[in-house]
Amino acid sequence: MNPMRGIDVDRLVQPDRVHSHVYTDLTIFEEEIERIFTQGWIFVGHEGEIPVPGDFRQRTMARQPVIFVRDQHGGVQLLMNRCTHRANAVCHLERGNQPAFTCPYHGWRFKLDGELAVVPFAERFPEDFDRSALGLRSVPRVEAHRGFVFASLNPDVCPLKDHLGPLVMQELDDIADLSPEGGIDVTAGYHRLRYAGNWKLQVENAIDGYHANFTHRTHMDNVRFRTGFDPAPLTSSAAPARIHALGNGHCRWDSSSLNKSGTRAFPGKTPDPGAWEIYLDAMIAAHGKERTDYLLSKQGSHLYIFPNFSYTGAHFRLFQPVAPDETRVTLFPFLLKGAPREVNRKRLRVHETFFGPAGGGQSDDLEIFERNQVGLGASLDPWSLLTRGVHLEQQEADGSVSNQITDELSNRTIWAKWKQMMGEGAMA
Ligand code: FES
Ligand code: FE
Repeated sequence: MNPMRGIDVDRLVQPDRVHSHVYTDLTIFEEEIERIFTQGWIFVGHEGEIPVPGDFRQRTMARQPVIFVRDQHGGVQLLMNRCTHRANAVCHLERGNQPAFTCPYHGWRFKLDGELAVVPFAERFPEDFDRSALGLRSVPRVEAHRGFVFASLNPDVCPLKDHLGPLVMQELDDIADLSPEGGIDVTAGYHRLRYAGNWKLQVENAIDGYHANFTHRTHMDNVRFRTGFDPAPLTSSAAPARIHALGNGHCRWDSSSLNKSGTRAFPGKTPDPGAWEIYLDAMIAAHGKERTDYLLSKQGSHLYIFPNFSYTGAHFRLFQPVAPDETRVTLFPFLLKGAPREVNRKRLRVHETFFGPAGGGQSDDLEIFERNQVGLGASLDPWSLLTRGVHLEQQEADGSVSNQITDELSNRTIWAKWKQMMGEGAMA
C-alpha cells in the first residue's frame, strides 16, 4: 500500500499481471510525477545538442519548465525557467542560441550560468536586496555519462552510477564508441510525437520484440518487396535474439546474434564506394578490431533506461508524461563524430525510413498506443498479462537475466521497478 494517496500497489502490480488503473488513474499519475519524475533520476538530454556557449533547449522535468543550456564557460547547466523576481518564464523559445536570458516582464537579465546580471531601476529595492542570491535556480542534481545527461529535482537522490549500474553504463559506452572519436553528434535535429495514451505504453514498447511481426507487418512486407530480404524471422519466437534485464528496471534488446561485423542492418552502412571502409579503418584504429566487431555486431539492439530514455540503432528518445492519457516523445537521430559524411547521411535515411514522419513503422506504434488506451477503459477484466517466457528466463554471466526476444521479461522488470518506486516507504 502507498499510504500517501491510498494506492494499493501490491494489488495493482502483481508478478504476472498489472491492473488497468496504472495506465488510466489520475491519482496514480500524479503520484508517478512525484515519486518517479521528481524524486528519481530522469533523462534530460545529450550534451551534443548544445555544443557551443549560448545553445539552449527547453525541457520539462516532472512537468516543470527547465532550460538545458551551454553556459559562457562551456559548462552544461540545467536551470529552472522561472524568473526569481515574480516567476515569469525567462525563455520562451523551444531552442536556439543567445547570450543571456532576459525576462520579458521587468527586464531582469540572467547570464547563461544563471547569475543575475542586470536589474533595471535597481535603486528602488531596499538596502538588503542581494542580487547574488537571485540567480536562476539550478536543478539540484545533474550528472552525465558519455554525454547523456540525467537530472533529479531531489538533492538526496543516489549517485547516477548507482541508478544506471555497470551494465547500462557499458551500453552507453558502446553507443558513444560507435564514433571513431568516442562521441556522438546530436545537431541533426529532432522530431516529436504526441499520442493519446499513457507514457508507460511507450516504455513497454521500447523493448518489445513480440509486436514487430504484427504491428509492423506492412513495413515488413514493403522491405521484402523492395529488397528481397524478409525481416520477419528476426523477431519470431524462433529468433536467437535476447532481451536482458539489466537491473533497476533497465533493459536491452540484444541483436548481436543476428549480425556479423555489422554486415546486416548497420544504420550507416552505405553502398557509396569507400565510405564504409574508411569508417571501419577509423574504428579499428580507435578501438581495435575485436571491440569494433563487437560494437558493430550490436547494431539493431535497443536500450531502455528507467523511466524515460530509450535507444534504437540510429536514434535515442526522451519520454514526457503530460496526463494519464497523453504523452510526448522526442526522437533524436544522431551522427557519429569522425565517421565519413556518407555513413552519417545513410544513418539519417535509415532512421527516416522507419521512424520519420513519413516512415513506415513509427506511426504503427502510435496507433497501437492509442488503441491500447481505449482497451484499458474496459473494466470487466481489468488485467494485462506479463507471463510470456517467465518459465524460460536465464541467468547470464554478466549478471543480467535474459529471455527470448518475444518474451515479456522487460515488462516484468519495468513493472517491478515501478512498484518499488511507488510502494510504501519508497520516498523515505
Ligand atoms: Fe521577471 Fe519581473 S518577473 S523581471
Ligand atoms: Fe514498434
